[in-house]
Amino acid sequence: MSDASHAPEPALDWSDAFVLGHEPMDATHREFVALVRAMQTGPEDGLAGLLADFEAHARRHFEEEDRWMLETGFPPRECHMDEHAAVLRSVVEVREVVARGEIGQVRRLADALADWFPRHADWLDSALAHWLCKRAYGGKPVVLRRDLKGALRDVSQA
Ligand SMILES: [Fe+2]
Ligand SMILES: [Fe+2]
Repeated sequence: MSDASHAPEPALDWSDAFVLGHEPMDATHREFVALVRAMQTGPEDGLAGLLADFEAHARRHFEEEDRWMLETGFPPRECHMDEHAAVLRSVVEVREVVARGEIGQVRRLADALADWFPRHADWLDSALAHWLCKRAYGGKPVVLRRDLKGALRDVSQA
């Protein structure tokens, strides 16, 4: 908790408000939150390593969501994929300045990510999670409809 004094922005913390109901995405988001929090609050001499961990995570995280959007033909994917690409560009830029010794830029990036994530998750990831869940469980309403038809036929024949 005293580590939070290093960060001008409140450290990102997991909240149930982030749960979207798509388990693989929720697990990835828990990891995202933990990594951003670590970059906000972790010791200065570990920041380069934490940034590398975050970059590896972000590539997996965004590639996976981009793939889900492409494979399922998710209609509003352009702006979502653009946000992922913009974040990755920032991560690469920060990695480059950190290599020149500006280690404090990791904290600034982490603060920006802590500010960005709740809106991204709430607005874009939640729409994707809803879309994926609807597709995954899309068979159920068909079965129910068939049952309902049978029930209606029984009623009309009675
Ligand atoms: Fe995400
Ligand atoms: Fe996303």
